[in-house]
Amino acid sequence: MRTYTNVKDLGDLNTAVQEALEIKKNRYSYKGLGENKTLLMVFFNSSLRTRLSTQKAGMNLGMNTMVLDINQGAWKLETERGVIMDGDKSEHILEAIPVMGSYCDIIGVRAFAQFENKEDDYKEKILNQFIKYSGKPVFSMEAATGHPLQAFADLITIEEYKKTERPKVVMTWAPHPKALPQAVPNSFADFMNEADVDFVITHPEGYDLDPKFVRGAKVEYNQDKALAGADFVYAKNWAAYADPNYGKILSKDMSWTVTTQKMALTNNAYFMHCLPVRRNMIVSDDVIESPQSIVIPEAANREISAQTIIKRMLESL
Ligand code: CP
Repeated sequence: MRTYTNVKDLGDLNTAVQEALEIKKNRYSYKGLGENKTLLMVFFNSSLRTRLSTQKAGMNLGMNTMVLDINQGAWKLETERGVIMDGDKSEHILEAIPVMGSYCDIIGVRAFAQFENKEDDYKEKILNQFIKYSGKPVFSMEAATGHPLQAFADLITIEEYKKTERPKVVMTWAPHPKALPQAVPNSFADFMNEADVDFVITHPEGYDLDPKFVRGAKVEYNQDKALAGADFVYAKNWAAYADPNYGKILSKDMSWTVTTQKMALTNNAYFMHCLPVRRNMIVSDDVIESPQSIVIPEAANREISAQTIIKRMLESL
């Protein structure tokens, strides 16, 4: 595997999930694979889970790991070609990327949507420059339009907790004070559309996601209707995708918060969220603390999803 940016890079999804579950049984059994190999994790944005779980995954595989926070201690990077660099940016990304590539064997990159230019965000300008210029296998640690490590961990978690062959999985928008990218819901939709689940997306009107990710999923604007009979409720906020509102908050309607009353509409569903989560905006204290909340095992599976991807990349070196 040379790149991991979306569900297609995994090949057969069921095979990938089974491989992940095998790794989970003994996460140290491939310790020799990463000997004398270096994983570089580059962060343009903050992280708790991705940083720790991906570093742990690399260590499980015997790798040396390095972390670079671009905004803390590195030179400020110019990302546009042709710019006269007479401002505060000291280094161009076109030198920085191959230099980073020369110090490592595999690179993970986190670079969120900037909500300044939709086309640039949806072209994955930064991630694709790493793929083009680093000379090394590159995986997304959440880019502008996708978070495939998260979605893979989500799928592994659903596989572990499902009680029926084809569970009903509902991804619901929920309110948030800040404008958040569509990366997590895009990737979750991408994965659920490939998985053997009955997938429903619910959100207020105006929050439709890019059709490239929604594909054939059912979209229901009435949250109560969508939640009826759900086996898994996956809550997430995102800002508007459609023009002219790209990146804007259109609603903070608190009636979309996932509460005990909302969960009562479901088939005793499990509650999921990628974290970090704003309590009593996205989800009530009662729901996230309930026995049906699986946010912690979901986060723990981030180590397994990352390890599966890095293992496949090591095998391709
Ligand atoms: N879910 C997730 O990616 O968490 P972090 O932003 O903390 O890495």
